[in-house]
Amino acid sequence: MSFFVGQIPVEEWERRAAQEDLYAVFSKRWSPTDCQRVNQEQQAKIVQLLSPLENKDVLDVGCGIGRIAGPLSGLTRHVTAIDISEGMLQKARQTYQQPNLKFIQSSVDQMPFNDQVFDAVIAIFVLQHIIDESSFQTSLKNITRVLKPGAKF
Ligand SMILES: C[S@@+](CC[C@H](N)C(=O)[O-])C[C@H]1O[C@@H](n2cnc3c(N)ncnc32)[C@H](O)[C@@H]1O
Repeated sequence: MSFFVGQIPVEEWERRAAQEDLYAVFSKRWSPTDCQRVNQEQQAKIVQLLSPLENKDVLDVGCGIGRIAGPLSGLTRHVTAIDISEGMLQKARQTYQQPNLKFIQSSVDQMPFNDQVFDAVIAIFVLQHIIDESSFQTSLKNITRVLKPGAKF
């Protein structure tokens, strides 16, 4: 038996990015119906949690194929979405092309943003994959750093 003690390597995310539809970011154990249901429920919940969304600058950390960042950009001022996987970002860029939506390749612990620039940051199904304590702490510090005072995470 082997245990995972670090961080899922980017090669594994590239492999997952090649999976069809929502299976790039969801478990293969879920049925297509369950994938659709979870996707819709999460999209609605994020909108509810971030409301009011007008005039907000939102950062989606580990955006995957853009299933949250894409629809969100239709409801707010600007969405920036980062991911370490170029394969995930390629799919996201193919699917969502709004002018107020930017996809950037970056790791959460090395984000190229100034301090206090976002009104909200979301990270869905991402931070639990950063198991290494030091990387996890650095990631949280970076997220805190880019949030405006009073912003939502
Ligand atoms: C399970 S997927 C979830 C994707 C998206 N948040 C969603 O819910 O559809 C995890 C994503 O996090 C990305 N990721 C993993 N480690 C990361 C890191 N250190 N920085 C940025 N993105 C990362 C992966 O490439 C992958 O796209």
